[in-house]
Amino acid sequence: MLYKNAYIENSEQLSDLRVEGGKFTEIGSGLEAKAGEEVCNLGGKLVLPPFIESHVHLDATLTAGDPVWNMSGTLFEGIACWEKRKPKLNKQDIKERVNRVVRMYAANGIQHIRTHVDVTDPTLMAMETMIELREELKDWMDIQIVAFPQDGILSFPNGKQLMTDAVKMGADCVGAIPHYEFTREYSVESLNFALNLAAENDKLVDVHCDEIDDEASRGLETVACRALELGLFDKVTASHTTAMHSYNNAYMLRLMRLLKLSRINFVANPLVNTHLQGRVDTYPKRRGITRVKELTAEGLNVSFGHDDIFDPWYPMGSGSLRDVVFLGLHVTQMMGYEDIMNSYRFISTNAAKTLHIQDSYGIEAGKPAGFIVMDAKNYYDALNHDSAVLLSVKDGKTIAQAKAAEREVLF
Ligand code: FE2
Repeated sequence: MLYKNAYIENSEQLSDLRVEGGKFTEIGSGLEAKAGEEVCNLGGKLVLPPFIESHVHLDATLTAGDPVWNMSGTLFEGIACWEKRKPKLNKQDIKERVNRVVRMYAANGIQHIRTHVDVTDPTLMAMETMIELREELKDWMDIQIVAFPQDGILSFPNGKQLMTDAVKMGADCVGAIPHYEFTREYSVESLNFALNLAAENDKLVDVHCDEIDDEASRGLETVACRALELGLFDKVTASHTTAMHSYNNAYMLRLMRLLKLSRINFVANPLVNTHLQGRVDTYPKRRGITRVKELTAEGLNVSFGHDDIFDPWYPMGSGSLRDVVFLGLHVTQMMGYEDIMNSYRFISTNAAKTLHIQDSYGIEAGKPAGFIVMDAKNYYDALNHDSAVLLSVKDGKTIAQAKAAEREVLF
């Protein structure tokens, strides 16, 4: 198949892409169709590498209002609502909702998802279900699974064993939640345990790290230190790190040196953290987001995720990462021309580094043919006008398509 006339990643020159056997075989301008080769004219639209959801909890999605709505919008009322929803949780329920949300994602150009699955459940039912879903959906969506200890590793009965069992079952990444552990000592021990478990089993790491407005929450320095000492480096990700918003600048200066040495990745979740953080502030109210601008300026890798889609903690979400990027640029004050133009990287190339899939990702000859086509010429326009994803091609196969919207103004 020859795809003609595309603006690849904001290029001002039109290019063509040849896809054979599920891979890109040639990318350049003025490519001629071979005898019998099918041609698709993209008509001067934007082509990007596929979007990536680098942080979500699929097992909780699409449960908002079932059976009760979170009226205050707080984290704690969210937990209370989830307790009421939990009795209905079973394999069939999770599979039905995940199948729906994965299709919502696919329609919006997402082809890879990293999901955190709660393993503070003695039956590990959600983990088992998600592992089955990873296999069932693999032709349409690549799913990476994090063993996520929602109630802690040291602070939950048998927490270490449940984490070990989840890794044995087939989790791709080891999680942790240091700011939720009962004590600072438990926090440090949980991180030592999690990173050692990952190193021993050749797994990735993604920690819910310091998702709190407490400036004394300093799990991040332990994560970065262990990533460095164990040689895990960019196999490790710190998600949220919202406490960094409140760190004093002198501490931040010291910490930044370690972060750069450790080369770990960061995931910010602008929608959910602006919604949930700052709840105990009066005024001024903190924005609840990590220092994306500063981390990026120092060469550290940051990607953006949803965290929640239409669940007790976040009542919105349609599976489009556009709003995540749009709000993320506002709250981090990254609204310069280049910042906006390149912001697709937070949900594509940067997220590929977070998922550690960069070797098989991107629009390059020899790599799997994954790309999306947007109804715009560059990402600035796509973001500003909320352009549709017209086509999503994964391993050379079309997995989603849409028609460009037609509007008529009658004056
Ligand atoms: Fe999360």
